[in-house]
Amino acid sequence: MTEHDFIPKPYTVLKQAGKVAWESPSNIALVKYWGKKKHQIPENPSISFTLNSCKTITTVSYTPKEDNTDFSFEVYLDGSRKDDFKPKIQTFFERVESYLPFLRLFHFKIETQNTFPHSSGIASSASGMSALALCLMSIEKKLNVIQSDSEESKDFFNKKASFLARLGSGSACRSIEGDLIVWGKTESIKDSNDLFGVKYPYEVHNNFKQYQDTILLVDKGEKQVSSTVGHNLMHGHPYAKNRFQQAHDNLANLNPILASGDLNAFIALIESEALTLHAMMMTSMPYFILMKPNTLEIINRIWEFRKASGLHIGFTLDAGANVHVLYPKQESVKILEFIKNELVAYCKNGEYICDQIGFGANQIE
Ligand code: DP6
Repeated sequence: MTEHDFIPKPYTVLKQAGKVAWESPSNIALVKYWGKKKHQIPENPSISFTLNSCKTITTVSYTPKEDNTDFSFEVYLDGSRKDDFKPKIQTFFERVESYLPFLRLFHFKIETQNTFPHSSGIASSASGMSALALCLMSIEKKLNVIQSDSEESKDFFNKKASFLARLGSGSACRSIEGDLIVWGKTESIKDSNDLFGVKYPYEVHNNFKQYQDTILLVDKGEKQVSSTVGHNLMHGHPYAKNRFQQAHDNLANLNPILASGDLNAFIALIESEALTLHAMMMTSMPYFILMKPNTLEIINRIWEFRKASGLHIGFTLDAGANVHVLYPKQESVKILEFIKNELVAYCKNGEYICDQIGFGANQIE
């Protein structure tokens, strides 16, 4: 498929008001997207677990307008007007306009809320942008009189939603479906591509079903470096070429691990990915340290406990100080006890979020 496939045929109904709503989850990358080309094309492939509880709920009400010169929209978070969200949405609308030609013909009221605290340091761009992309897809669907509910059209709907979400925020393209999503063309994953996320196409061992993610909120402050700035730092980065190759290799290496259920190999791979992401930031110019002392305390505690207990507890990190503790469902009783007794003390105000692997976004009727 190419970008061209996402340009729609002329709509059949236009003068119609309405309302659509979606809830869409966040996701946590196992092999990280870090570095992008023009038009939100990733420098390397990535794979993520879709989450279940951390999600954004977005309602979009649309009314036809006479003048179609500008985009017209208002944004609310938890019922309060949020004008500081507008520039990001304006940029998003500009990027997707040729694929959604109705955007200038309506006024949109975008109302959104997150199930996780906005200030938690958990990125809401993946869940937020995917929820918005899905709402716009539902509006597009309503603007066509002839609608089909065939598997083929559902598949196209999801692909285009992921394609649009990517143009809002790269990682958002991995939040439409679950439970494991690959984004970025790589030889070892059939049908993988740079334009949208695809479901991991191979059999996955039971060990990875219902995988748990407990998110330890170490630092809830504003991000020290925005992901856009971070991605840009990979241009001309001395280790970029090797890092991009490593991501391809890690995806290829993950295939036999996911098939066999090899938890030790899985942990080694994801922890190395997390630390490599931070190593890239530490070795860019300018350089950043996004981990906090408590991030390192937690990592060391996890390693000690894993050695002593033989349990399969591992971690990954986002572009921030929070720690995602990952472990299989069947070991969750003992691991959760350890988290509560020993790790929560390192969280800001003792806050953490229990989540697990999920299956993607849902439309709200
Ligand atoms: C570290 O998707 O937030 O979470 O495309 O600029 O919006 P933009 O970046 P974003 O980057 C996410 C980076 C990451 C790794 C990942 O999710 O793969």
